[in-house]
Amino acid sequence: MATAAPSADRYSTGAIWFHWIIAALIIFNLIVGIFHEGVPALRALMPAHKAVGITVLVLTLARIAWRLRHRPPPFADSVIGWERTTAVTVRRIFYALMLLMPLSGWIMVSASTHPRPLPWFGLFDVPLLPVAHAAGAPAGTTHAVLGYLFAALAVLHILGALRHQLILRDSVLGRMIPGLLPRG
Ligand code: HEM
Repeated sequence: MATAAPSADRYSTGAIWFHWIIAALIIFNLIVGIFHEGVPALRALMPAHKAVGITVLVLTLARIAWRLRHRPPPFADSVIGWERTTAVTVRRIFYALMLLMPLSGWIMVSASTHPRPLPWFGLFDVPLLPVAHAAGAPAGTTHAVLGYLFAALAVLHILGALRHQLILRDSVLGRMIPGLLPRG
């Protein structure tokens, strides 16, 4: 994966790739996870949900390792005090959720009384975790509660980005979308 030198006014190429690939996978998993019970077409995607979730876990570990060596650009001048604190806090919560959601899902399916293989897109089986059956219920509750928290935060995150682009008309969203110019 190519990584450009960090620039003062936008995220580096590596950070942008990590952000958009992981974001797309998480949005897919939130939609399938939340609506699979009522929508048969989404229920059929549950094996993909699990494989995508494991992929998010691996990519997040890679992203954290990468992030430790690549600092994000400083905040744009238009981002004021409370917004900076909120952005840093939400960023940390997102990292925690990107780890806890796949882990709780993995524990949940591993703790089943009748554990089934966990195929990764038909290519190989992801090993089940050596966890006790009793871990299944708390893992399932964690997965559900954090899933709704994740969905709510993702909506706020998207609305915040759109507010910068459409209302404040600054360069914040353009830092994550090369070529996007502020409106107006
Ligand atoms: C980015 C990673 C993930 C996200 C964002 C995510 C999100 C969700 C959400 C929001 C739900 C609905 C919760 C509910 O209403 O009860 C769900 C259900 C589920 N998830 Fe995940 N998930 C992820 C990873 C995983 C992984 C890695 C596995 C297993 C290996 C998994 C297995 C399941 C299962 C089996 C359900 C259905 C639970 C039930 O119907 O009782 N998930 N997921």
